[in-house]
Amino acid sequence: MTDPQGGPDAAGDRSIVLVGMMGSGKTAAGRLLARRLNRDLLDLDALVEARAGRCVAAIFAEEGEQGFRAREAAVLSELTGRPPVVVACGGGVILDPANVAALRACGTVVWLQVSPTVAAGRLGAGEDRPVLAAMSGSLEERLSTLMAQRAQAYRAAAHLVVDADGPLRDVVERLVSIATAAAAPAGAGSRP
Ligand code: S3P
Repeated sequence: MTDPQGGPDAAGDRSIVLVGMMGSGKTAAGRLLARRLNRDLLDLDALVEARAGRCVAAIFAEEGEQGFRAREAAVLSELTGRPPVVVACGGGVILDPANVAALRACGTVVWLQVSPTVAAGRLGAGEDRPVLAAMSGSLEERLSTLMAQRAQAYRAAAHLVVDADGPLRDVVERLVSIATAAAAPAGAGSRP
């Protein structure tokens, strides 16, 4: 990508870090954003799975949530010092303040804010998400409960918030604006 101001990368030198609830579209938006910016996408869940040689659900089953969170934090600690990338995080990464500090040091943290109704529609049954599978109620109720528990952590983690209820292409356009305004990101998303 060519920077109209003369640099090699219009997206600046900051990584873009996507956080938000399950079903907010972090991975899908991250993949498209990375392509648009000509950057690598680092998907934290995929990295955890690759290192463990097992899927997230199997890690939860064998090591509990604590085991998964330790693996998630270990992968995160490898992010510093990389060239700018797009990072798609697992939904619970913001639960640990040390993770949040690492993410904010790594780049511009954007909270993809999604309503429980839209997230539930995207997740289908949601039963492959162990955190949701361990809760009771309808999928929308579980997402709503989790959202209420986590909203403050997302707000504290994020530099910017983007409404992710709408079509993926609109979300990606907003993220491209944020990335290309990386030197002064205030114009493209809202402050949480
Ligand atoms: C989790 C979200 C999942 C995955 C794990 C835990 C959570 O990632 O990291 O199942 O606690 O919200 P996605 O948000 O990509 O589904």
